[in-house]
Amino acid sequence: MQIFNTQIELEGFLSKIRKKGIKIGFVPTMGALHEGHLDLVKKSVEENDYTLVSIYVNELQFNNPIDFNNYPITKEDDIEMLKQVSCDAVFMPSSEVMYPKGYKKISLELGNLVDVFEGPLRPGHFDGVVQVVYRLFDYIKPNTAYFGLKDYQQCMVIKALKNQFFHSIHLVFCPTIRMETGLAMSSRNKRLSPLGLIEASYLYKALTTIRDLSIHIEAFDAINYGKLLLQKRQIEVEYLELANADTLAPGKRWFRKNKNIVLLAVNIEGVRLIDNIGF
Ligand code: PAF
Repeated sequence: MQIFNTQIELEGFLSKIRKKGIKIGFVPTMGALHEGHLDLVKKSVEENDYTLVSIYVNELQFNNPIDFNNYPITKEDDIEMLKQVSCDAVFMPSSEVMYPKGYKKISLELGNLVDVFEGPLRPGHFDGVVQVVYRLFDYIKPNTAYFGLKDYQQCMVIKALKNQFFHSIHLVFCPTIRMETGLAMSSRNKRLSPLGLIEASYLYKALTTIRDLSIHIEAFDAINYGKLLLQKRQIEVEYLELANADTLAPGKRWFRKNKNIVLLAVNIEGVRLIDNIGF
């Protein structure tokens, strides 16, 4: 597996293989890899000639410095895991490479997309994601890029970025990979105790209960029932809400079939977890 640390080596190599018609698949990550990431990498390996994964913990997207400082760094394990799934290359830039002196921040009009859910709770988060993904797309110019639907709102922000700046990049949003208990795979799960992991499995139980109730009762009541389920487990809920899957506009009544997305954010043992279900 090739390892690139600088933009110059990376761009030089990629432009050569691009000229030969080699299809490049790209999976951006912040490391601390788990099965969810590996699923994206496997899809890329299946669908492209060459798969590149980036590992870069992007400080710009952390609104909380404690969260940034606690972010797990597992470089050696990450490289080993990527080799196991036949990844072709990994890009591990320093902050100087990612954001060289005098680099230009881009501005992207995200409108209502960032006025809800994660937007107000994590000021600056999506702007940080936009800056880093813009720069990665610009360096790599992949044919296809892969993202996990666990970060649903992020997927929508990336779609807006693509629509404005990168028409030729094809985006693939992949279903959330879950543990047997239903808990969505996340690098943050590493910070939960065994008891915390059990508590966290109630998130998916609440989401599936809400989905199942949708054929019997109105959204407002189903969501309240889901909140009660979590509160009974003493889980601190930041939000649990229904939104339109295309616009993220919150709603109190069900949307049309396949246009419903229920999103949640909670805190368990001081670890912030997000999840969602679409139906
Ligand atoms: O989803 C993530 O891991 C990050 O937000 C991303 C897309 C790699 C940008 O830093």
